[in-house]
Amino acid sequence: MLNAIGLQNPGVTYFMENDLPYLKKFDTAIIVNACGSTIEDYVELAKVLNTLDIDGVELNLSCPNVKMGCLAFGTTYEGVKEVTSQVRKVLDKPLIVKLTPNVTDITMPAKGAQDAGADGVSLINTLLGMSIDIHTRRPHLANNTGGLSRTMCETSRS
Ligand SMILES: Cc1cc2nc3c(=O)[nH]c(=O)nc-3n(C[C@H](O)[C@H](O)[C@H](O)COP(=O)(O)O)c2cc1C
Repeated sequence: MLNAIGLQNPGVTYFMENDLPYLKKFDTAIIVNACGSTIEDYVELAKVLNTLDIDGVELNLSCPNVKMGCLAFGTTYEGVKEVTSQVRKVLDKPLIVKLTPNVTDITMPAKGAQDAGADGVSLINTLLGMSIDIHTRRPHLANNTGGLSRTMCETSRS
């Protein structure tokens, strides 16, 4: 599947008031995937998540479909270390950093996460991909590129 959805969620306040009470009905761990446009966004979000009855936070430093932030922090040792260490200061819960495969050497951002005090890394977000319409010779996606995953292939096979 090739997607260009971005991060179309309703925000942490809606999540707290609506999604979390629903999710608490199930006997399972709740790990919240969190993303921002700036380091300040990540820190503010982490402060709120720290007060909730959840089991952990997965920092999304790897979405290929947002213009600002997210992937911008996720491709280097320094970027991952900076945002992760700022979040680590305000978050007492287990912290996982979700990394992008769209780098030359994923061990560098992973080391940044480890050195900043993350409890684990999540591998991997989608690969950058492009699908071209052979008739128009233009990309199918308005964004030109999207995130390529196995998600739908697995579903359609079962
Ligand atoms: C429609 C769609 C939406 C996704 N949304 C998110 C997201 O909000 N946050 C995130 O960290 N990853 C997101 N992902 C990435 C998946 O969680 C997963 O990391 C990715 O698809 C690679 O795994 P796979 O090849 O097994 O599908 C999304 C993937 C798809 C296809």
